[in-house]
Amino acid sequence: MVIAVACDHGGFAVKEACIKALKERGDEVLDLGTYNGTESVDYPDYGLKAALAVKNGQADKGIVLCGTGIGISIAANKVKGIRCAHVTNVFCAQMASEHNNANMIAMGGRISTPEEVYEMTKVFLATSFAGGRHEKRVAKITAIEDGNF
Ligand code: RB5
Repeated sequence: MVIAVACDHGGFAVKEACIKALKERGDEVLDLGTYNGTESVDYPDYGLKAALAVKNGQADKGIVLCGTGIGISIAANKVKGIRCAHVTNVFCAQMASEHNNANMIAMGGRISTPEEVYEMTKVFLATSFAGGRHEKRVAKITAIEDGNF
C-alpha cells in the first residue's frame, strides 16, 4: 500500500518510528513533511496534505502526527471522505480499522512513545474492516457528511 505520512513539529519525534513500521511492512511511504522538529509549523497544513493525498487516491491510507494527535485529526476530518481516528493505544488502532473503517489515524508525539507509535501503525494497517453490523454505522457517518459538508 501507499501510505501518506505527515506531521507538525510536535509529531516529528515519532515520525521515524512510524516510517520504520511502514517500511518493514513493505509499504511505499509518501512523506509529506514536516522534515524537522525544530521549526514551528501549523498542524492543519499537514493534516490537509495527508487527507488530500488519501482523498485524491495518491495514497491508500494516511497517518498524521502532531503533539497530541488531536489538532491534526480534526483538520484531516474536514476533508470529505476522510475518517481519521485519533488513537492512543493498540486497541484503538485495531478498532479504528475493524469497526470504523478509518482511512487515517492520528497519533501524538508528546503523548505516545516511538515504540507505541510503531506498534499502533502496524496494528492499524494489519487489521481489516469487519463489515457486517459496522457497515451501516459507517454508512451513517457518510450520510452525515453528505448532508453537512
Ligand atoms: C503544537 O504546539 C501543538 O499544538 C500541536 O502539535 C498539536 O498538539 C495540536 O493539537
